[in-house]
Amino acid sequence: MVSKRWTAAVLSGLLITATLSGCGGDDGDSGSGGGDGKLVLGFSQVGAESGWRTANTKSIQESAASAGVELKFSDAQGKQENQIKAIRNFITQRVDVIAFSPVVESGWDTVLKEAKDANIPVILTDRAVDSQDTSLYKTFIGSDFVLEGKKAGEWLVKDYEGKTDPVNIVELQGTPGAAPANDRKAGFADVIKADPKFKVVASQTGQFTRTDGKQVMETFLKAQPKIDVLYAHNDDMGLGAIEAIEAAGKKPGTDIKIITVDAVKDGMTALSEGKINYIVECSPLLGPQLMDLAKKVKAGETVPQRVLTEETTFTPEQAKAVLAERKY
Ligand code: AHR
Repeated sequence: MVSKRWTAAVLSGLLITATLSGCGGDDGDSGSGGGDGKLVLGFSQVGAESGWRTANTKSIQESAASAGVELKFSDAQGKQENQIKAIRNFITQRVDVIAFSPVVESGWDTVLKEAKDANIPVILTDRAVDSQDTSLYKTFIGSDFVLEGKKAGEWLVKDYEGKTDPVNIVELQGTPGAAPANDRKAGFADVIKADPKFKVVASQTGQFTRTDGKQVMETFLKAQPKIDVLYAHNDDMGLGAIEAIEAAGKKPGTDIKIITVDAVKDGMTALSEGKINYIVECSPLLGPQLMDLAKKVKAGETVPQRVLTEETTFTPEQAKAVLAERKY
């Protein structure tokens, strides 16, 4: 005959097992699942430095809601240490999938190994990391920033075709160490180096913000006797620089040609007004693809290691044609 004590022990054992698997104890599964069976996605955002970033956050939050994904959103306010802390919190909470847009490219191996050891898949969105071990993340969805820099350089080369006078360029770089700052600089430099008339006379970070873009442009205008072209790594810095150029009594887009990256609504408006001459698009609308990839990764499906965003470029005429429907 089975003793009452033995039956109670078995029942309580079953209860513990059921509870653990219900809330995702370390059972070899890749995470917890929401209490209501929803996929739980921990997302660490860079911050809110630009119009692009605001649109990206909105896309992720709205897509999570419509895809039935429980989103745990954390804003790193531009600091890598905050992102590392957020990722560790996601690991402790045993979310199903972790996604993040890295503030800078390097210094991620330790925390990514912790996620891997905890069996929680990681998706990189928007920006890459420089880890040699690509098994530390499942996929990387975002733009080709080198190509964006190249497109900016190619427009410039074409615009000055047949001219021989020196072309003095000032460059507003993104956040130091961030993939889009490194790559957009490299891509642009790679194209313009073929012609010695192009000279980058000053290059400094404007932190991807309007305020810093304006301040740094003021410094450039005071220090440089002749500026022909401004290449800004994003629209916001370009828009800040436009304020500085106008305050200095010059005409943006005419006295100083301006090339930017992103194509957010404010940038497109300035482009349609002729204050910016050319914009290379970088799409922030990564939310729907991210939700799709997170579901596939959670289900154990194989996903491509790299998912590239499709993007275009805009002249003032093209900006005028699409401005009314521009969503961000
Ligand atoms: O990583 C994408 C870049 O980050 C955007 O081009 C810029 O505006 C943002 O801050």
